[in-house]
Amino acid sequence: MNYRLAVLSDVPALSAIEKAQPRCAQWGELGWQTELAEKSSCIWCAQTGKQIAGFAALRLAAGVGEILNVGVSPDFTRRGIGVELVKRVLNWAREHGGRQITLEVGVCNGPAVALYQKAGFTQVGVRKNFYANNEDALIMGCSL
Ligand SMILES: CC(C)(COP(=O)(O)OP(=O)(O)OC[C@H]1O[C@@H](n2cnc3c(N)ncnc32)[C@H](O)[C@@H]1OP(=O)(O)O)[C@@H](O)C(=O)NCCC(=O)NCCS
Repeated sequence: MNYRLAVLSDVPALSAIEKAQPRCAQWGELGWQTELAEKSSCIWCAQTGKQIAGFAALRLAAGVGEILNVGVSPDFTRRGIGVELVKRVLNWAREHGGRQITLEVGVCNGPAVALYQKAGFTQVGVRKNFYANNEDALIMGCSL
């Protein structure tokens, strides 16, 4: 598996993964293009052959980063790709002056909560009824 920063030509593949994983933030191709143009953001992707297997996106401002979106194609889950992608965006944030990272994740999203815990995040709060279906969000954080 090859890990690299995503580029504009990856947008259709990134968008296809988010569609296949409804728990991802659904940005659509325009949203991906906007995020890729954002200087304070990074999007890492995992590639095998010509296929994109997953992505992780983070935005950094004044030393504080937020993980915005993480997804692994259903064909490639449980192979360590998600945790490696999260490590890559955390390294990028550290190299660009990030000190604190936060994220929100649905309380019922067990795989993602476990992934973030494995990557070093702990729960720092709860946002009640955060999602459209009234699911609460856990706020998780880690220091770099
Ligand atoms: C969450 C997600 C990114 C995990 O990707 P992945 O590549 O399968 O994760 P990894 O293989 O790196 O797993 C790392 C750890 O996360 C946890 N984990 C991942 N999937 C899990 C599952 N289905 N059930 C329980 N724990 C799970 C485990 O602790 C795992 O470590 P282990 O394999 O040593 O037990 C993937 O399931 C996904 O795309 N989900 C839908 C989108 C989403 O929820 N995104 C996050 C919110 S934005």
